[in-house]
Amino acid sequence: MLAKIENLVKDYYLGKTTVHALRELSFGIEKGEFLSIVGPSGSGKTTLLNLIGCLDLPTKGDVFINGKNVSHLSDNEATNLRLKTIGFIFQSFNLIPVLNVYENIEFPLLLLGIKAGQRKEAVVSMAQKVGLHEYLIHKPDELSGGQRQRVAIARALVGNPLLVLADEPTANLDGETGHIIIDLMLEMNRELGTTFVFSTHDEMVIKHAQRKIFLHDGKIDRIEE
Ligand SMILES: Nc1ncnc2c1ncn2[C@@H]1O[C@H](COP(=O)(O)OP(=O)(O)O)[C@@H](O)[C@H]1O
Ligand SMILES: [Mg+2]
Repeated sequence: MLAKIENLVKDYYLGKTTVHALRELSFGIEKGEFLSIVGPSGSGKTTLLNLIGCLDLPTKGDVFINGKNVSHLSDNEATNLRLKTIGFIFQSFNLIPVLNVYENIEFPLLLLGIKAGQRKEAVVSMAQKVGLHEYLIHKPDELSGGQRQRVAIARALVGNPLLVLADEPTANLDGETGHIIIDLMLEMNRELGTTFVFSTHDEMVIKHAQRKIFLHDGKIDRIEE
């Protein structure tokens, strides 16, 4: 098992009110899985992905990644773990606007201290896989939404992470482009064996997932294989 989520609770405190965003969630993520977290807006999808990705700490409960409990990491430890093990894809792409496609994809490799020659090989090969090899010197604002999300996928995968987390990766794309992006993620999952967890509230993209966890009000409503 690649990751284990155990009795996960996340409360947000807003003045005197407490928002119960996640209420005792438990499930496992197998290596190589293509898993979808499905639920309406406010059901806890982003909160859950942020906790799995060590971007935030749980109120109670635990997240294990590769057997290691990551629920109490310091900022430094979390940053390090994220860099080496986790790739992120966001609904708003989160590319660096002043960097071109090549440089955006290369960015995590610079942080990892990978040597120049190896970086170039990895960036070019990944750009080819996502179909962007002819756009390497373009800036994000010269690309369509679908192309931007391809850059984000390449950037998430270039460091060869164990786990890729994608928070509503198709929410800002039209339906057809959304399908193409999910299909590309599925292709990367098959080709590279990378584990993917992506959230969505779009009925049309759910069918691409192997396993679906339906969230409602911070709880697991049901799991479909
Ligand atoms: N930073 C925050 N502060 C307070 N409440 C939050 C915060 N983030 C999310 N929430 C609340 O937690 C619940 C779950 O939100 P979220 O995880 O963003 O759901 P989803 O991604 O499914 O839309 C919602 O009620 C939301 O309003
Ligand atoms: Mg969300």
